[in-house]
Amino acid sequence: MFKIGVLVSGGGTNLQAIIDAVESGYINAEIVSVVSNRSKAYALKRAENKGIEAVFISRKQAGSAEAYERALVKHFKDRKVDLIVLAGFMVILGPTFINAFENKIINIHPSLIPSFCGNGFYGLKVHEEALKKGVKVTGATVHFVNAKADDGPIILQKAVEVKDSDSAESLQKRVMEEAEWKIYPEAIKLISENKLIIENNIVRRLDR
Ligand code: GAR
Repeated sequence: MFKIGVLVSGGGTNLQAIIDAVESGYINAEIVSVVSNRSKAYALKRAENKGIEAVFISRKQAGSAEAYERALVKHFKDRKVDLIVLAGFMVILGPTFINAFENKIINIHPSLIPSFCGNGFYGLKVHEEALKKGVKVTGATVHFVNAKADDGPIILQKAVEVKDSDSAESLQKRVMEEAEWKIYPEAIKLISENKLIIENNIVRRLDR
């Protein structure tokens, strides 16, 4: 069975969408472990509720960023995961983690990359900047993770209309509902079914 490890920091609505997709049989895989850098992340509770291993691994206790990444690598290697899913994980990962799982880490970002992404763009801030710029369309992107923030090969994107009446909060909610919760399970399904290849940093689909 294809094994998924998930890293979370917050509410875990994307994790929930993935749990639901596994439960319904849309994704044929097992979520073997959910790890958070925050002990109180509600995402951990969502995993616990479904009997999925939910673990807090403290960044502070690890001492350094590298030691933290080594602890995460060991955790997921011990569980033989095939894919690491970053689902609202608010820690920038360095080479120790990324090189240990080459092309096996994916992330979701709440904008159409390359807009509103990179260092400092996370969560609500992304939508605030989109509104400030006055874009009429935004969306979400699932991509493989490489050494640079939000820079890896793009797997799926979905556009969402920006309304004149939007606040950052209302836009965030619609981007999640209309884009994130759909394209993240879809990307995981494609990867677990071996339907993607990466050529010169471009993701190609083998199923169309
Ligand atoms: C999501 O909107 C995700 O796209 C974003 O954080 C939120 C997590 O929500 N991620 C980033 O901004 C990464 N740069 P969730 O915990 O409810 O899934």
